[in-house]
Amino acid sequence: MTQVRVGTDLVEIASIAESCDRFGRRYLERIFTDAEIAYCEAGGTEMAQRLAARFAAKEACMKVLRPPDGGIPWRSIEVVKMPGGWCELHLHDAARRLAEAGGLTHFSVCLSHERSAAVAVVAATVTN
Ligand SMILES: CC(C)(COP(=O)(O)OP(=O)(O)OC[C@H]1O[C@@H](n2cnc3c(N)ncnc32)[C@H](O)[C@@H]1OP(=O)(O)O)[C@@H](O)C(=O)NCCC(=O)NCCS
Repeated sequence: MTQVRVGTDLVEIASIAESCDRFGRRYLERIFTDAEIAYCEAGGTEMAQRLAARFAAKEACMKVLRPPDGGIPWRSIEVVKMPGGWCELHLHDAARRLAEAGGLTHFSVCLSHERSAAVAVVAATVTN
């Protein structure tokens, strides 16, 4: 049987901005891929909003993947910006293996952000 599974997450922009200020590059590189960082940095004053939306997408994806205790690396879930403006979700390494083991395919992501908060929704089909 095939079903759709969704995950969502809401992130305060201020909490991401604070982590960036406090932990700098080390924080960014632990959570985000190089391409994600480059896109967010190009956003100027919107950088923290873009980062927050991508963090929300990773959390939302965790809710779909349902990883075992201990979790999986943040960077194994990547939000890829498409030329049309929308984003795709690319899974690598541990996230990809977890999806395969769980029968999860057809991942889809949608982001929204404004000055105070960012939100993401992730959907995937699950076959079991
Ligand atoms: C796509 C659109 C709906 C985005 O709305 P918005 O309120 O500006 O943006 P939000 O803050 O809610 O969300 C931003 C995110 O939307 C996503 N997004 C951008 N363009 C998108 C698109 N075409 N499809 C899906 N998602 C899109 C991106 O992920 C973006 O975040 P990112 O830049 O960090 O990746 C808007 O730009 C748009 O094109 N609206 C159509 C307007 C229109 O046709 N009006 C008709 C009369 S003028």
